[in-house]
Amino acid sequence: MSGSHFPKLDRVDAYHKVTGQVQYAADFNYEGMLHAMTVPSTIAKGRVINLKTHSARQTGGVIAILTAHDFPPGTDESPAVLSNDISFLGQPLALVVAESLEAATLAAERVEIDYQQDAFFPTIENPASLREDVDPRSVGDAATAYSGSVYTVDVTYETPVQHHNPIELISTVALWFGGKLTIYESTQSADMSKGNVVAALGLNPADVEVKSAYIGGGFGQKGLPFQHTPMIAQAAMMTGKPVKYVIPRGQIFHVAKYRPRTQHHVQLGCDTTGKFSAIRYDVVQENTPDSAFAAADYHESAGRLYGIEHYHGTAGNIRVDRQASGFMRGTHPHPTCFAIESAVDELAVKINMDPVALRLANDTVTDPLTGRPMSSRFLNECLTQGADRFGWENRSHLPGSMTLADGTMVGWGVASGIFPASMAAGEATLRVYANGTTVLMTSGHEMGQGIRTALASAILKDLDIDPTKLDIRIGDTTAGPQFMTAGQWGSSSAVPVTSKVVRLLKQKFSELANGKNLSGSIHQKLAMLKRPYIEVKASELAPGQSPSALEELRQGGWPVAGPEYHEFTSMSYIAHFVEVHIEPHTKRIRVPRVTSVADCGSVISAKTALSQMYGGVVWGLGQTLREKTEIDARYGGYLNCDLAEYVVPVNADIGVIDAHFIDKPDPLCNSLGAKGLGELVMIGIAPAIANAVYHATGKRLRSLPIRLDDLLI
Ligand code: MOS
Repeated sequence: MSGSHFPKLDRVDAYHKVTGQVQYAADFNYEGMLHAMTVPSTIAKGRVINLKTHSARQTGGVIAILTAHDFPPGTDESPAVLSNDISFLGQPLALVVAESLEAATLAAERVEIDYQQDAFFPTIENPASLREDVDPRSVGDAATAYSGSVYTVDVTYETPVQHHNPIELISTVALWFGGKLTIYESTQSADMSKGNVVAALGLNPADVEVKSAYIGGGFGQKGLPFQHTPMIAQAAMMTGKPVKYVIPRGQIFHVAKYRPRTQHHVQLGCDTTGKFSAIRYDVVQENTPDSAFAAADYHESAGRLYGIEHYHGTAGNIRVDRQASGFMRGTHPHPTCFAIESAVDELAVKINMDPVALRLANDTVTDPLTGRPMSSRFLNECLTQGADRFGWENRSHLPGSMTLADGTMVGWGVASGIFPASMAAGEATLRVYANGTTVLMTSGHEMGQGIRTALASAILKDLDIDPTKLDIRIGDTTAGPQFMTAGQWGSSSAVPVTSKVVRLLKQKFSELANGKNLSGSIHQKLAMLKRPYIEVKASELAPGQSPSALEELRQGGWPVAGPEYHEFTSMSYIAHFVEVHIEPHTKRIRVPRVTSVADCGSVISAKTALSQMYGGVVWGLGQTLREKTEIDARYGGYLNCDLAEYVVPVNADIGVIDAHFIDKPDPLCNSLGAKGLGELVMIGIAPAIANAVYHATGKRLRSLPIRLDDLLI
């Protein structure tokens, strides 16, 4: 079994996308539709004393202004939709609904609020902040093994606050009709969005449906439920009209999830041959009291990069008065790999060993954290194939030893990346009609990563249907459970259950045909059998997962397993090789080429997998060389909250990207051997670039982003 057995499809939704036929949430428009705008808090902490709506209500076109009084009080399970207690700058305090976006915006600006202000601390620099430790993760005796190491590095690294900036803004359109609420929303979890509305407004789940058929980029920003969705739903119910809300980008910076700032202390030791003896690794992150972004998760990946017998991982949170941080592509392994893969490079320099050879010498077949086998691990193949493709053998060893004729400093760097291979329980319904159409209904969200194309590949691989009439219904609570698509488990969850439903449908069809010799496509054969359609349902569990996970899936619970399964651990791996060019006077940093080789198990959809690689490498360049959200410590907000000042890479920043897959199926993690790729790709780009900058200049930069001013001083 190999990924290459899947048909090589073009993106199945490309034509509809480029011809504008695909509707994103904000594309839904209705006669008489109203527009909503929130009133953001202008203080970072305190409470509303008086919220005056008189002049706002005088604004022409204003229909309603919703405040905390219009919503049930919060409970432990479901916080109040609107509250007069303020915990971050930009927190929505009221919602204006008007006949036009302009009227809603103007009226929102006219709402006057008297505040009682409290002291607030927006950054971890506050001397009064206490670090709150989480449980450590330890195997062996790292303290003793580290102190017995022949060579050590003892270094700290830092990564900044970063914000996702998908081109599609966060959007919701709510319709209330005939006692039923239909919500079109840009969400990676239609089920959670529905659950949020049901809980916050005390509705009957049967009366609420959420549809998120296409998302214009998610990256984790659209994973967890939004505070505003119940507000928009309530506005639609109160006014009896469809209501649209699109969050302006500047406000998205202040209300959406983001990557928290992190600090890492790495102590890594090895023996005379370069074999790692121990690692002691401490991470501290800024966090809010209500954030789901767990500090302990940094160790899930760090402990599995290499075969290190003695591991001591500690972590803590420092509370800040901002909105809750959350998942952003690459999540914990991105800052972790920046720290550890930089430290590995520092150790390679110290022992005068090639950094690829040092990594190759520290492979493992067992999971150091659990002692159980890794289901598959081809990191060394990623490193050797990447080195080959890149021409690593031509690297001159010493920093500053590779220059071009015009004085440009050249650096070559390498680093590895890792990400958990998880899987969610899934269900699928497949219906093939005699009239030529086929409908697949399963769990998944299309954020542009290409899950529809992967699902189509799984169907077309084994079933002779008309591909032009294949309707894939996902991201829609009427099409079955819609668990969150995130954590790179999208395809590795939805494709196995789809392959299974295809298998079952073929079985059912052959029973139906009962040995008759029929010719033509399955549609034609159904017609000959005088059957209008054939339908099959299937469900699939992750390895060793209890069947109760299917109930979790249906009830809006958490049906995910991995990366630690009962018998084994599954992780995806990647190796990146980068070349940097540094202009000698301005120290401008360019990355003319990157070679990335991924071990993601089977490749199901070759074209979209390759696109994931390109996109991940591009974003990797952005998070390393460009992106940092600047906090205004005076007010607690963000300063560069637009695409002009939150700088991301542009076309001219991107050189050659040589992306390649090992494409060996994982034998255990699911029936297709697909470990997942979406998050993995951008992990390890940052240290590869930092290591290349060191190789070019001899300067070790331990804080992201790396910018030319870091090289000028
Ligand atoms: Mo992902 S950062 O879990 O959408």
